[in-house]
Amino acid sequence: MRELPRSTGRRSWARSGLAAASTLALGASLVAATSSPAAAAAGCAVDYQVNDWGSGFTANVSVTNLGDPLNGWDLEWSFSGNQQVTNLWNGSLSQSGQDVTVGNVSHNASLSTNGTVTFGFNGSYSGSNPAPDTFTLNGVVCDGSTDPGTDPDPDPDPGERVDNPYVGADVYVNPIWSANAAAEPGGDRVADQPTGVWLDQISAIEGNGSPTTGSYGLRDHLDEAVEQADGGEMVIQIVIYNLPGRDCAALASNGELGPDEIDRYKNEYIDPIAEIMSDPAYSDLRIVTTIEIDSLPNLVTNVGSRPTATPECDEMLANGNYVEGVGYALATLGDIPNVYNYIDAGHHGWIGWDDNFGASADKFYEAANAAGATPDDVHGFIANTANYSALQEDHFTIDQTINGQMVRQSDWVDWNRYTDELSFSQALREELVSTGFDPGIGMLIDTSRNGWGGPDRPDGPGSTSDVNAYVDGGRYDRRIHLGNWCNQSGAGLGERPTAAPEPGIDAYVWMKPPGESDGSSEFIENPEGKGFDRMCDPTYEGNARNGDNMSGALPDAPVSGHWFSAQFQELMENAYPPL
Ligand code: BGC
Repeated sequence: MRELPRSTGRRSWARSGLAAASTLALGASLVAATSSPAAAAAGCAVDYQVNDWGSGFTANVSVTNLGDPLNGWDLEWSFSGNQQVTNLWNGSLSQSGQDVTVGNVSHNASLSTNGTVTFGFNGSYSGSNPAPDTFTLNGVVCDGSTDPGTDPDPDPDPGERVDNPYVGADVYVNPIWSANAAAEPGGDRVADQPTGVWLDQISAIEGNGSPTTGSYGLRDHLDEAVEQADGGEMVIQIVIYNLPGRDCAALASNGELGPDEIDRYKNEYIDPIAEIMSDPAYSDLRIVTTIEIDSLPNLVTNVGSRPTATPECDEMLANGNYVEGVGYALATLGDIPNVYNYIDAGHHGWIGWDDNFGASADKFYEAANAAGATPDDVHGFIANTANYSALQEDHFTIDQTINGQMVRQSDWVDWNRYTDELSFSQALREELVSTGFDPGIGMLIDTSRNGWGGPDRPDGPGSTSDVNAYVDGGRYDRRIHLGNWCNQSGAGLGERPTAAPEPGIDAYVWMKPPGESDGSSEFIENPEGKGFDRMCDPTYEGNARNGDNMSGALPDAPVSGHWFSAQFQELMENAYPPL
């Protein structure tokens, strides 16, 4: 029986900064599981994630029930060191020596088949803090398998998708990105992390030798993913990014297809991708696709009489080719049983305002019913792709009033309904379900560059003298304005990729490969259709979409997608959690 690599190794490697050499062949494990004897109609997978500061730690534990529905559960494990749980939330604790039992509390007693429950705790220890080897759920060993007697892998039946593809699976490490990262001083510390593979041009399907695509085409990545899977479960993350009239509100990522070239999009881009993905050689992979970053929200926020409107977005709204293209991608890729489609959903600093929130959900629903698609083709949504919005702001909340003024009135929040990506993503999920999407949809959050650590990270709230001082003094996100998006100065790597970290969240992912530029800081001739957007120029004083503020961009950046060493170094320096 195959033994899944445990996440312990990955985490302690990340802390100690040793080289990644042997991990590349395996993909990055986001799950703790071991081989085990069996019990029928039962099974479970556990993801045990630790943030460790040397003498203490916080653990987040997600338990997925792969067996029959449970009403009441106990998760048990034994520590191998002297770890002591000091307080625990979302569960009931008993610890005797090294043996720990966590039971349900009343609100999370029922655990459906494929349902996930998450709890967390703080712990203290001396010496070392290895993750537990074995977990049992109601007495059954959690090895990520549903019927270990006959099938040792957590395979769904052929043609059946699992609820959360990240649970019980490794995630593909792109060797091209990994080599770029490893070539940087200190880059070894992150070079074994999984990142998205962007198919940003038709030629990327076959491989075009560009600086970040290298010699790999889609087949090469899928072949390599099969190899990394080594017989186990493997997620590979593919970004579908080539709509006609791409990037209508900006210039840095304009693409190769003109606004009306929807037929080329279908025939020369989506169809060949679908043909490759449906090759039976890849049917054991879990192929996560993220569909068309930054497209649909532009049709809500950057059109019509709004001061943020652009003629290019007005054109894409009028000709319908974003909606048609997204619908076609969902329908065509959704026909492949092992593809999991996630639609891009912007981020809180874009669609978190009341005017944009419900309207964006409606637009997603429209696309999910266009060009032959149905909402069943949608497995979930991804927030914050290639953006910098903080995962969680701890030092202010939307409901607070400071010296007579609401936090929502502060210049930074500016009446937004959300202050961070986690609260936004969970609320958007609910909104999408009420709009008509399946209640089982899950969210991904791109945490590649939203860490905001380093010496300037605040460790408490700002002054209560007035609401702006309070919010500005306490916020982690240190952008000049929430609307800034290009190569942001001061940013750091965010949470490492993690499966099922919070309710409603399928995974934290690094969809944007850290170190790849968002756009050039001055015009650079290129064959990819990329323009020069002044939001990437550090001397630019802004436009309506960033409240006429400075761009906050780093200088000397190359064309979008190309390797930007100085940015990668800064991201590592300001990582949070730190490397
Ligand atoms: C670029 C793509 C690139 C992607 C990932 C985008 O901004 O336009 O060409 O593949 O970022 O780095």
